Amino acid sequence: MSKILMVYFSQGGTTAHIAELIAIGLRSSGHKVELCNLKDGPPQSLEGYDLLGIGTPAYYFRPSFNITDYINSLPHLDGLPAFVFVLYGTYLGETGNDIRRALSLKGAKEIGYFKSLGADFYQAYLKEGYLFSAIHPTTNELTQAREFGINIDRIIGGEKYIRPEFDPQPSIMYRLERFFINDWLVTEVYSRLFSINRKKCTTCHLCMSECPAENIAANKAGYPVWERHCLFCLSCEMNCPQEAITSIISWPIFHPVIRYNVTHALQDTELDYVKVKHIKGITIRE
Ligand SMILES: Cc1cc2nc3c(=O)[nH]c(=O)nc-3n(C[C@H](O)[C@H](O)[C@H](O)COP(=O)(O)O)c2cc1C
Repeated sequence: MSKILMVYFSQGGTTAHIAELIAIGLRSSGHKVELCNLKDGPPQSLEGYDLLGIGTPAYYFRPSFNITDYINSLPHLDGLPAFVFVLYGTYLGETGNDIRRALSLKGAKEIGYFKSLGADFYQAYLKEGYLFSAIHPTTNELTQAREFGINIDRIIGGEKYIRPEFDPQPSIMYRLERFFINDWLVTEVYSRLFSINRKKCTTCHLCMSECPAENIAANKAGYPVWERHCLFCLSCEMNCPQEAITSIISWPIFHPVIRYNVTHALQDTELDYVKVKHIKGITIRE
């Protein structure tokens, strides 16, 4: 029996759902599994664990910043077996590659890589009227996640691991988007550019409670103020019942980029979507 720690980030719940299914597969094979969503804080340490699982949603064609930070904060892993799971709504880009490389640099030994589509509640696409991958993860993908857990047990038991190829490089446009939404720019620039419409804001503080990084505080008047560890998940803007919050993504300069992404995804016969209206923090499927 191995003692396994699965560390992931999940804002919308999809990565958490997949993590639970993988854990079910592992537990059915007799392993002890602990799950840790970084939203609730990082785990104490890796001491006593025989295996590490890392999961993330794709955020701007890369892992979410808190997952990258978590991996960077780890000591050298000295051959610790590790697996990776990734959720994505349209194109995952370098998400899986980045984590696999980072773990390898830390000295982990990869023993599994799983990816699945998950409903894409990205504010900018919702505002354009589209929810991509709305039906994902499907029952089939959930079953695959559980089977992935069972398969990890076989690898632990000595079965040969055939390392999957790295995911293909995203197109130049997505690489540019990835470049322009990086940790430094978000911390130093974009997180300072959230704006609040004081005529609309009722100081309900939903933005604060929804922020997975506890990055929003209230000023003396009760209005939200963004600090400097933003994940740029845009939960604050997306959930605001008064539509009082605006990030740079809603600036007209970004419209052509969003339109490009949406048009490209709509033309992709491999992707599904539903039409939606996103009004006052609520997504209504048409
Ligand atoms: C801020 C943000 C950025 C995202 N960027 C990407 C992306 O670059 N590529 C992609 O395929 N999906 C992207 N997605 C979709 C998520 O990866 C996907 O919906 C995932 O299932 C969400 O996981 P969660 O429910 O555990 O938070 C993004 C979603 C958000 C909210």
